Amino acid sequence: MTTTQPASTNLQERFQPAGNPLREGLRIERTPDPCAMVIFGASGDLTYRKLMPALYDLALERLLPAGFSVIGFAHRDMDAESFKAHLREGVERFSRFRPIDDAIWESFAEGISYVRGDFNNPEDYERLSVELTAVDTQRGSMGNRMYYLATPPEFYANIVSCLGAKHLTHREDGAWQRVIVEKPFGHDLESAQGLNKAVNEGFDERDVFRIDHYLGKETVQNILAFRFANGIYEPIWNRQYVDHVEITVAESIGIEGRGSYYDDTGALRDMAQNHMMQLLSLVAMEPPGSLHADAVRDEKVKVLHALRPINPDLVNRSAVRAQYADGFVSGKQVPGYREEDRVADGSLTETYVALKLFVDNWRWADVPFYLRTGKRLAKRVTEIAVHFKPVPHRLFSSQASQNLEPNLLVLEIQPDEGMALKFAVKVPGPTMRLRPVNMVFQYGTAFNTGSPDAYERLLLDAMLGDGTLFTRRDEVEAAWRTVTQILDGWSNLPDDQIPQFEAGTWGPMEADAFLNREGRSWRRP
Ligand SMILES: NC(=O)c1ccc[n+]([C@@H]2O[C@H](COP(=O)([O-])OP(=O)(O)OC[C@H]3O[C@@H](n4cnc5c(N)ncnc54)[C@H](OP(=O)(O)O)[C@@H]3O)[C@@H](O)[C@H]2O)c1
Repeated sequence: MTTTQPASTNLQERFQPAGNPLREGLRIERTPDPCAMVIFGASGDLTYRKLMPALYDLALERLLPAGFSVIGFAHRDMDAESFKAHLREGVERFSRFRPIDDAIWESFAEGISYVRGDFNNPEDYERLSVELTAVDTQRGSMGNRMYYLATPPEFYANIVSCLGAKHLTHREDGAWQRVIVEKPFGHDLESAQGLNKAVNEGFDERDVFRIDHYLGKETVQNILAFRFANGIYEPIWNRQYVDHVEITVAESIGIEGRGSYYDDTGALRDMAQNHMMQLLSLVAMEPPGSLHADAVRDEKVKVLHALRPINPDLVNRSAVRAQYADGFVSGKQVPGYREEDRVADGSLTETYVALKLFVDNWRWADVPFYLRTGKRLAKRVTEIAVHFKPVPHRLFSSQASQNLEPNLLVLEIQPDEGMALKFAVKVPGPTMRLRPVNMVFQYGTAFNTGSPDAYERLLLDAMLGDGTLFTRRDEVEAAWRTVTQILDGWSNLPDDQIPQFEAGTWGPMEADAFLNREGRSWRRP
């Protein structure tokens, strides 16, 4: 431990709110208990780029509890000072509030320490235990612990088991111990079930926070507000009015040097199993009885349970996979997937996937949900497009309505956060001609303020014990059930071919044909 400062010199007391009632209300309502956060994998990329900048931003906004402390745990030979210097560099590069405020950083950094250790060596957890006890005494964290598994996934189970063996997962004195687990959570249904079992041996389910950072995004949370704080959408949010729903998570970047991870994972596991299934369940869920974590997650999981099973022998009816070949993205030539570093020759790993899913329940019977995600696509965009049915009777002549399209509602998640509703209007002039226009809402212009980073919201919620925006055990397993059916189908396919498409385009012809044969086409956002 690098400080002997008593907890009373904490950030909140030194930087009291300057009379902003909104902030003060927020702070009082949402200040967590004093606690220590142990980050396993603290010398890694996630801690550097995401976790520490988010924690610093929370400190700056006076949202962290009194005496908040961070204990880094990793392989690398560092002392507390070099660890802090490394973290400061990350904060300087990635915080939302730059340049960084020296006084806030110094105060925040007083609570940072480092334990060098090997995840697999039980003895090293003894030193962690000693450090935690010291933090409790010096910073007043009262035994409340948040363990963050920012490590390669193969270590998750062992870390939990070592913590349990050192009695670091449960205490009798009312203090809480929670664990945040990063993605990927499992490789298929069986491994996810095994991991859940291992994690739940150390922690009660209510103390497990499986992170899906998409759920921390403002616009994803806004799906709940949009659907359930407004009366006008729910009556049309069903099979009577909705023709189909299209969910797109498109990236223009490639695999960014993560060849060995990605080649073993692919787009289906990397994006569809978690982020896209979460978006699907938020769009399709029934209204929950309350915003209590389990009330919301009960409704989300019902959607996943209602997904129509995919027969692995008929996988091509439900899924298209492909790989990017070389091409141009933003005017720059980029290599094909198989030419990327640490990708196997002749790899069959998909960098693109398109799915057709059905939610077999009263509300959504026979409404297709089309999901697509991929790397090296034409544009970075995440959106949910709800396509409504055409009007039942054509009142206007075919000449007047030749440009007419059915109503469309687009929830834009990134990079332009907002929503747009497309509807028909009369073109000014002496004749009746119709044209679609957009009614647009954009977060940036409406609120004139930046959204917090997803990790800020999620770290704070985990400290508060609020699991609403985290995935529950049954949700993860239900999502894996569908994804594993597709994986099984692909593994049974006799051919060793995977369609290729030019980088910088919207994906393979096969995906276009997949929708065209149903009389539909993908949006070009
Ligand atoms: N990076 C991201 O933006 C991102 C985004 C979403 C999810 N994730 C997930 O977050 C997790 C961490 O990702 P990352 O990118 O931060 O990984 P990373 O950069 O490879 O960092 C891994 C960390 O684990 C430590 N480590 C590995 N083996 C160890 C051992 N046996 N004993 C002690 N320490 C060990 C490393 O320590 P040394 O370097 O000191 O050896 C390092 O601190 C992964 O599950 C990843 O999928 C990451």
